[in-house]
Amino acid sequence: MEKKELQKLVFASNNKHKLEEARAILHGMFDVVSLNEIGCHDEIPETADTLEGNALIKARWVKEKYGYDCFADDTGLMVEALGGAPGVYSARYAGEHCSFADNVNKMLREMEGKKNRKAYFVTVIALILNGETTVFEGRVDGYIATEPHGHGGFGYDPIFIDGVSNVSFAEMSSEEKNAVSHRGRAMRKLAEFVKNSE
Ligand code: IMP
Repeated sequence: MEKKELQKLVFASNNKHKLEEARAILHGMFDVVSLNEIGCHDEIPETADTLEGNALIKARWVKEKYGYDCFADDTGLMVEALGGAPGVYSARYAGEHCSFADNVNKMLREMEGKKNRKAYFVTVIALILNGETTVFEGRVDGYIATEPHGHGGFGYDPIFIDGVSNVSFAEMSSEEKNAVSHRGRAMRKLAEFVKNSE
């Protein structure tokens, strides 16, 4: 039987963990390609003050400048004892151009001695497909650890403890994390939406 060529869908990211997650969930539905793969090396400005605003900026940037259907995500870590911070500013929590380790260390310092360690991740995904824009959201609840656990994943994973399994995201395999994570949930909503609109 002839193999059907999959439609290209750009994921407005070059993060290899995120691309792996997306390819696993959208397997057989789309050929998911990164920004590098379409020759986009732009610093896309993330100037909105909401996750949805930033996801829309990135998706529209790719569609308008490169012409591809695409999706873009923006994620925030909301920590109850910090009044919902760092939220939409999670990537730059320890300053402009800071590393994942800088953010983790700042969070551990800010949370020192705090009893309430409740936190959640939210991902918003904006999809532009066949002329239509749709937004999806995924959330996972948990808490901030008092020290890093595990070496997998990226970002805040070593200090985010999933509220159901009580295991840090950095201690999970990528399949385990995908099954419960904010982005996994948002991505599966996107996949369901596409299946239902076929
Ligand atoms: P972004 O919107 O994906 O760039 O994420 C914003 C910030 O949240 C960055 O500092 C990421 O490292 C962090 N982040 C996003 N997704 C995850 C995740 O799945 N685990 C841990 N940290 C994440």
